Amino acid sequence: MVCLGNICRSPVAEGVMRSKLEKYKLNIKLDSAGTSNYHIGENPDQRSVKNASKNGIDISHLKARQFKENDFNEFDIIFVMDEQNKKDILSLAKNKEDQEKVKLILNESSITSHINVPDPFFGDEAGFQLVFELLDQACESMAQKLSNQIISLKQ
Ligand code: 4NP
Repeated sequence: MVCLGNICRSPVAEGVMRSKLEKYKLNIKLDSAGTSNYHIGENPDQRSVKNASKNGIDISHLKARQFKENDFNEFDIIFVMDEQNKKDILSLAKNKEDQEKVKLILNESSITSHINVPDPFFGDEAGFQLVFELLDQACESMAQKLSNQIISLKQ
């Protein structure tokens, strides 16, 4: 899960997706990172922590890190929050296989109102709640699909 700072959107994406993996009993490696080095080592923005907590998710322990080239080797899918993140991550891709791993997270959502998860950094609480709701929809939809694939493989 990737955004610019790894303090507002992608930690929420990580926390929400982790709760979906638990809900659907899916064993999948998951992490988040930022394209920038602005906030390395910091906990998520207090407004994200508060909003996620209000929605039942604890992200207070997470620590920001910067996306690194080796993440292409460590992960099968790189979900980005917006088109600028996508450009920035694609500029680090070494080959076509890397490029194909990069996906806009809201492409996974059944809600089609947004292409990008809007950056809430300079906004208010409503912006953080919108981020939560968009990510909750996308992650729920992804987890359901993964769970159905596993069930059909077992049958
Ligand atoms: P994020 O939000 O990319 O969702 O973590 C931001 C965090 C920090 C800054 C911008 C966006 N910043 O300019 O420091």
